[in-house]
Amino acid sequence: MYICICNQVTEAQLRNEIERGANTVRKLRDAVGVTSQCGKCGTCVKACVKEHKQLNRSDLLINTACSV
Ligand code: FES
Repeated sequence: MYICICNQVTEAQLRNEIERGANTVRKLRDAVGVTSQCGKCGTCVKACVKEHKQLNRSDLLINTACSV
């Protein structure tokens, strides 16, 4: 599914870039161009970044709980 129509960026591409370290809207704009034209994809991009950060926190909590 396309997240950014203006730059033909799919959700899979976006998640791949986030996994590779582009974990802010600005970094994603620099990497794949999202939010650089009409900006309508901004809400979805922010949601993906937020979701990724929450998942990482959950992983951290799980890993911490497992190591005790
Ligand atoms: S939809 Fe992403 S900049 Fe227009």
